[in-house]
Amino acid sequence: MNLCRNVTEQIFWVGGNDRRLSRFENLFPLSEGMAYNAYVIKDEKNVLLDTVDSSVTMQFLENLETVLAGETLDYLVINHMEPDHCANIETLMKMYPNLKLIGNVKTFQLYEQFYRLHDQDRYIVVKEGEELNIGKHTLKFFLTPMVHWPEVMMTYEMSQGILFSADAFGAFGAHDGNLFADETDYSHKILAEARRYYVNIVGKFGANVIATLKKISSVDIKMICPLHGPIFKTEEDITMILDYYQHWATLTPENDSVLIVYGSMYGNTENAAYLLANELADKGVKDIKMYDVSGMDASYIIADMWRYRHIVFASPNYNVELYFKMDNLIREALALNFKNRQISIMVNYSWGGKALKTMQDYFADSKHFTMVGDPVEIKSSVKDDNVTNIKNLATAIYQSLQ
Ligand code: FEO
Repeated sequence: MNLCRNVTEQIFWVGGNDRRLSRFENLFPLSEGMAYNAYVIKDEKNVLLDTVDSSVTMQFLENLETVLAGETLDYLVINHMEPDHCANIETLMKMYPNLKLIGNVKTFQLYEQFYRLHDQDRYIVVKEGEELNIGKHTLKFFLTPMVHWPEVMMTYEMSQGILFSADAFGAFGAHDGNLFADETDYSHKILAEARRYYVNIVGKFGANVIATLKKISSVDIKMICPLHGPIFKTEEDITMILDYYQHWATLTPENDSVLIVYGSMYGNTENAAYLLANELADKGVKDIKMYDVSGMDASYIIADMWRYRHIVFASPNYNVELYFKMDNLIREALALNFKNRQISIMVNYSWGGKALKTMQDYFADSKHFTMVGDPVEIKSSVKDDNVTNIKNLATAIYQSLQ
């Protein structure tokens, strides 16, 4: 049975939800599934904006055919040529022989790399700012490269101020019936997964996101329809998500507190991490967050590295190197352009190693990182002199946050 939904009187959601997928891009764990949004505008010409992942093709096609109700599909706008949105293009080209594909030069380069049905007579190549009238609705195309791939564009429906924003403003997670953000408890239920999605999927390209935010500020946005996650239709929600994107893209912390990430083989480095956390709490630091690097997927930790002002990394040496889980976490974060943070370091040695130097080297760029306090160096387990050093570090961190 079809599951299509009204977005407006003439615009319909025809996407699908996948709760069987355990990792998005085969990388990022999903606890609540994934939504793939696709939209139809019914007018003198019928337009589909993006398709869906192959896992939900059957549902998508039934939704699409229900909405079209026997009419043909005239245009497919390809805002994003990543397979979680474009897996059904060839199928649609076969189902609707007069269907035209709308994309930019890079869209069609990627299309022909991924798929075999190359029919260039059916391509409409659009440029920045170009418009297409389909009846009562007019579409305007904005090129927004690297949010998240080079071909990405956004489509702005001019009569109602609706921005079809591709991956931007999306979130991990399937829809629970409610399609609009204002129908959900967004701040408690979805925001963390929107942040984790942003940081891990788009975070590397903050400069492009900032350019895109500037570009779309030139139009009056009444609704944002992303390719994942809920639709934003109230002024309050649109302002909220644009504000979060401004924070995330500029690496501006949301929280003036401390995130402590530790690795620990036998509990001794963990003990040092808790001593530091307790000292900070006793000084009045609120909303401290701790992660065992071995117990949590890096995507969750890195999302909180975008959120907190101060990050403490506490790690043992392992075979004279930085503990592998910690090394992987920091390398992954730096590959996503993690920067603009205060950093403190704690290390544990039993028989030597390079953990301290490796971490100091990772955060050596003083333009982007401020080292706070002296590194705490522990020999196998915490002793009285370490407690003094941990208290001194807590004091330095506390003062840096004032
Ligand atoms: Fe949802 Fe970049 O794909």
